[in-house]
Amino acid sequence: MIVDHLGRQFRNLRLSLTAACNYACTYCVPDGKRLQAAASELEADEMVRAVRLLMDTAGIDKLRITGGEPLLSPKFDALLPAVMQLGLADVSLTTNGQLLPRKMDLIAAAGLERMNVSLDTLDADKFRDIARSGDLDTVLDGIRLAGEAGIRLKVNMVPMRHVNDDQILPLLDYCLERGIELRFIELMGMGHLQNNPLFDAQFFGMDDILDLIGTRYEYARTDAPFDSTAARFEIPGAGTFGIIANESEPFCRTCTRLRLASNGRLFGCLSNAKSYDFRDVLRLPDTLAMVKLQDVLGQALQDKQLASFRGEVTVMKFIGG
Ligand code: GTP
Ligand code: 5AD
Repeated sequence: MIVDHLGRQFRNLRLSLTAACNYACTYCVPDGKRLQAAASELEADEMVRAVRLLMDTAGIDKLRITGGEPLLSPKFDALLPAVMQLGLADVSLTTNGQLLPRKMDLIAAAGLERMNVSLDTLDADKFRDIARSGDLDTVLDGIRLAGEAGIRLKVNMVPMRHVNDDQILPLLDYCLERGIELRFIELMGMGHLQNNPLFDAQFFGMDDILDLIGTRYEYARTDAPFDSTAARFEIPGAGTFGIIANESEPFCRTCTRLRLASNGRLFGCLSNAKSYDFRDVLRLPDTLAMVKLQDVLGQALQDKQLASFRGEVTVMKFIGG
């Protein structure tokens, strides 16, 4: 077992299928240009082997498929059914939902049980202003189809002052009505938002979110898994919501996440630019690969922050949070 001095180990792998995205969200890219795939990305079968090796070496038992936008990658169709067969305790997907209606049959057939969909507004004009691409009704259709297929859903919203803070209550109602857990993600000062006055102007934190929700609902803090990104709240009789409070309540001390980017680089921390080559590992037979990985994972674990997220690098966009 690979454990650090705070007792942290890697349990939770976030696998980015591609750096490419079909949106150009304002908080992700500054110029409205969509992210492109990396020059050389791992193949689906290499990614599946990487997951298996990380299960065997580090005890990874949770997998989240991310991007860029994972449904954009042709690899997704072969990769999902393959990773569902690996015996992981939990497999899930983070998507912007734009391609969900097209992929829903495949996803349901593979047996995926839960999924997180990013949605920052229910207003079509605001949607275009924030995502600078895509279509709101298509996402809502995807959410409906996923619900009908019995998939447990969370919706991720990044609230921004004077941009979509008026959407907090409408989105909460939309989710409560459908048994979906809405999570508010505090704006993260990464990439172009680092040291940018726009970050301070738009930041809408946990206290503000709770004050606003308190105008309509009574809520109480409730349990969350120990390594959860989100603080969770219950509205008695109505449902739950969460706040991913990167700034207000940093959660680095309980972080179990490891990230593999589509270009074959392994990251021990979202807030650290340090990365390790996985392609080298994939050239080795299993036994040697596992020895090499022990060493790499020991180093990657030391890259985690002690207490709070420092937001100093730009890796978020191509490793999908
Ligand atoms: P669940 O297993 O459903 O709780 O998923 P999750 O919250 O781990 O995954 P999701 O992809 O929905 O992540 C939501 C957001 O949490 C991301 O988009 C990031 O903004 C944030 N996040 C994820 N991992 C980290 C992390 O290690 N550090 C920080 N500061 N934020 C993170
Ligand atoms: N701050 C907060 N959340 C962000 N995301 C991407 N960039 C940022 C940022 N700067 C979120 C998206 C999506 C998830 C994958 O990451 O909204 O829900």
